[in-house]
Amino acid sequence: MNKTIALIPGDGIGPDVVAEAVNVLNAVADKYGHHFEYKNVIAGGCAIDKFGKPLPQEQLDICLNSDAALLGAVGGPKWDNLPSEIRPEKALLGLRGGMKVFANLRPAVMWKQLKDACPLKDEIVGDGLDILIVRELTGGIYFGDRGTSEDQNTAWDTEKYTRPEIERIVRMGFEYAQKRQKRLCVVDKANILNSSQLWRRVAEDVKKDYPDVTLSYLYIDNASMQLVRNPRQFDVIATSNMFGDILSDEASQITGSIGMLASASLGDGTGPGLYEPIHGSAPDIAGKDLANPLATILSAAMLLRYSFSMEKEARDIENAVNAVLDEGWRTGDIAGAKRDEVSAAGKLVGTKKMGQLVVDRIKK
Ligand code: IPM
Ligand code: MG
Repeated sequence: MNKTIALIPGDGIGPDVVAEAVNVLNAVADKYGHHFEYKNVIAGGCAIDKFGKPLPQEQLDICLNSDAALLGAVGGPKWDNLPSEIRPEKALLGLRGGMKVFANLRPAVMWKQLKDACPLKDEIVGDGLDILIVRELTGGIYFGDRGTSEDQNTAWDTEKYTRPEIERIVRMGFEYAQKRQKRLCVVDKANILNSSQLWRRVAEDVKKDYPDVTLSYLYIDNASMQLVRNPRQFDVIATSNMFGDILSDEASQITGSIGMLASASLGDGTGPGLYEPIHGSAPDIAGKDLANPLATILSAAMLLRYSFSMEKEARDIENAVNAVLDEGWRTGDIAGAKRDEVSAAGKLVGTKKMGQLVVDRIKK
């Protein structure tokens, strides 16, 4: 198959990890006879430096004209004091909104090899964790009306949702639950927020179409507590943009490392999907060959699966990552308490070596 992939390396460790994902994609293309053409997109802090804005329209257009887009990370201290309208993070929102990728799938899976890096006790984690967070991505407080008063002493942001915006997320939650453990939990703050009450009304209506799925609700405060108290109660979580942002960081940490979690942002299927690791730009280790490229490599696997229907190829990448972890190779973030041991065994590796190990495995 011939496909075009927009690459958005971004800032910080973004370019480091995207480079490794491209090597992996090329290995897959070679092995299976595909041809991937890459188009480079400048977005985030680097676009502010070059064009004076985080996401020029022509850069977004490159993504819209591709079959899928792979993003590293955006942002860094260099741009932290800019007004919010031209901060690098606006590039992310512009990409998500502009590409209309309203649903963000964030699977939080614990790799058995990394159990040591999980901060929870053994009896809580049992034989593993596998939670899918379906986060609403193009609405709510991230995109609602906001402002600051003239004297700068009052500021507001608005959480606003419409029924269709909620329904497509909740439906997706039900669909995935049906293919998994058949449990969907809608997380909200319905004891306070009108918008959350609407989420519940919509979920109640949609539930009729999925009689085999058990639907439950949790308030966000309780949900964040339950995630560390008893994470195995969760199968699929569907939630708003901001709550999903918060819960996915928490979920990633209990799986061991934020450096391992991939994500897919999908729309109605008529346009390209956007794939990215859930970690940030980690400017302190940028360009130092220290970042873990696996979350981005796994995001590339999701890209092949969801945007190109290349299930076999996606599995090949995931199996390769699994094999490399089985062999004991670790970047610093996933070496955990065993860092010295890993290092003594010569298996503490950098970004490039980790990428190469996955490539070698795919070629085997
Ligand atoms: C994420 C990030 C972004 C978000 C930031 C960088 C704008 O935290 O993708 O989770 O809040 O969505
Ligand atoms: Mg986040």
